[in-house]
Amino acid sequence: MTQLKPILTHLDSIPSTPGKFKPDKSSPYNLYRLRFHPTLFPRFTLWSFFFIFFIVLLIFFSSPTNPTTGNSRRSLKNSLSPSPPLGPNWERRVRASARPRSKTGFTVLVTGAAGFVGTHVSLGLKRRGDGVLGLDNFNQYYDVGLKKARQGLLERSGIMVVEGDINDAVLLRKLFDAVAFTHVMHMAAQAGVRYAMQNPGSYVHSNIAGFVSLLEACKMANPQPSIVWASSSSVYGLNSKVPFSEKDRTDQPASLYAATKKAGEEIAHTYNHIYGLSITGLRFFTVYGPWGRPDMAYFFFTKDILRGKEIKIFETSDHGSVARDFTYVDDVVMGCLAALDTAKKSTGSGGKKKGAAQLRIYNLGNTKPVPVGRLVSILEKLLKVKAKKKVIQMPRNGDVPFTHANITLAHTELGYKPTTDLEMGLKKFVKWYVSYYGSKKKKSSW
Ligand SMILES: NC(=O)c1ccc[n+]([C@@H]2O[C@H](COP(=O)([O-])OP(=O)(O)OC[C@H]3O[C@@H](n4cnc5c(N)ncnc54)[C@H](O)[C@@H]3O)[C@@H](O)[C@H]2O)c1
Repeated sequence: MTQLKPILTHLDSIPSTPGKFKPDKSSPYNLYRLRFHPTLFPRFTLWSFFFIFFIVLLIFFSSPTNPTTGNSRRSLKNSLSPSPPLGPNWERRVRASARPRSKTGFTVLVTGAAGFVGTHVSLGLKRRGDGVLGLDNFNQYYDVGLKKARQGLLERSGIMVVEGDINDAVLLRKLFDAVAFTHVMHMAAQAGVRYAMQNPGSYVHSNIAGFVSLLEACKMANPQPSIVWASSSSVYGLNSKVPFSEKDRTDQPASLYAATKKAGEEIAHTYNHIYGLSITGLRFFTVYGPWGRPDMAYFFFTKDILRGKEIKIFETSDHGSVARDFTYVDDVVMGCLAALDTAKKSTGSGGKKKGAAQLRIYNLGNTKPVPVGRLVSILEKLLKVKAKKKVIQMPRNGDVPFTHANITLAHTELGYKPTTDLEMGLKKFVKWYVSYYGSKKKKSSW
């Protein structure tokens, strides 16, 4: 502001009243006169030069450093996320991360890789020899520190996570130019049902616009990758027929989140139909486990029980229990990998369809809905702490009273067979929670 002041003062001194200073646009000599005006122009040119120089400096130094890539320049074209540095070193790292161990291994782009399920899927793929490149925008929907810790875990396994947004078409093109992905495992999304009432735009941004942007990149790729993506059990919405089957109606979403996931399923149909992309949607049912999501009940119940804080347990309007088909993350990962393994190739290339392509949708649940009260009593036992419970009626904010998966189709076609019950899964979660937050507490008290 102080630097701008002399410039503004100088401009103030230029007469603005018509008649006092009236450039004659028609005169070819006008420019000459202006340029060589003995008193006015030398000062104007000097200040203009300083002004432009100052703006250039401001743009150059205001670009934050990209923690993933170490690059300090931000593309002006891309205001969504730090652009990757264009350079052989960055491309080498991208290619190395995506390179499978064997010739038959897959080359997979995992979006939302720093998220809960994305991290587990990436590790699962890497472990069996596939090449994995992660992409995540590290948004602040929940603790970014937890996402960074997951990124650290992935990097220690040789998986690079590029920091960027799936809406960034320039970045996607750079990634697809650098690597011929055989598959895309699309996990990036704005998750959570209740947050949609606070920030509806974030659901449209990631789950609709972002999905279209990613499909556009996939459609243009040559060869086109096969796509497996996370839909959600929430698409069943107000459906009361149990267990939920893929054949049931999904046109009554109870939340904006559910509506955007349903929209994703329709968008997938379009890209499959027009461009020959092979697309498999997976409807996850309340996934839980180590490195989980802090906005989910099992996670914040654990935190609040340990702090002696009251927890609110929802019941239905007729005093019935609210139940969820909790599914352990390792079981979901098995389903994701099986979906990749059975995915047929896309048929198009460079935006042109060459034939009909595969389009599938599967439930990935556990088939055993558990009342939330039971979840709390398992946590009390594992944590050895009695919870301070308050039972209240479930608010109408998008949650549904129960979820229950029919997994026959996934079992028949993917060989999907969940093996972890809630007690065993929560035991693994609590073990991780105590070691992760316990060690953080120790570090911060140093
Ligand atoms: N966890 C569950 O119980 C559950 C249930 C049903 C469906 N799902 C779906 O599974 C997927 C993974 O869920 P999760 O539990 O791991 O959630 P998560 O929030 O932990 O992971 C999503 C990741 O995507 C990233 N992301 C969001 N928008 C992005 C964008 N525009 N560009 C790039 N990255 C972006 C976030 O930073 C986050 O790290 C999501 O699609 C979610 O909707 C999850």
